[in-house]
Amino acid sequence: MGLPTDQSGYWDRAAATKTFAHPLDFDRFMRRVPLDAPILDYGCGTGRLCVELSQRGFGCVQGVDSSAAMIQTARARCPGASSGTP
Ligand SMILES: C[S@@+](CC[C@H](N)C(=O)[O-])C[C@H]1O[C@@H](n2cnc3c(N)ncnc32)[C@H](O)[C@@H]1O
Repeated sequence: MGLPTDQSGYWDRAAATKTFAHPLDFDRFMRRVPLDAPILDYGCGTGRLCVELSQRGFGCVQGVDSSAAMIQTARARCPGASSGTP
């Protein structure tokens, strides 16, 4: 078994072409997680869920993604959230 393949090129290209829509059950999430909880969205992509969480009142949302292109879009969509590559 070798080291994981670097997939950042794939995800950099996907940032411009793919739309992610896998649903998060926000009602369930909000029953269990307080609004002031720190949330790390690891593999945040273009920041879709960071935006939704911020809009629903979560005040400490951080997105991290290994793709620079994904992070660039995430920062534009959700300037209030901090983000970066690991
Ligand atoms: C299927 S997308 C989902 C994006 C986002 N979570 C959403 O639901 O809209 C997977 C994301 O994980 C990121 N990713 C893949 N491997 C990663 C790693 N080792 N560390 C951080 N992010 C990674 C990719 O760059 C991509 O943005």
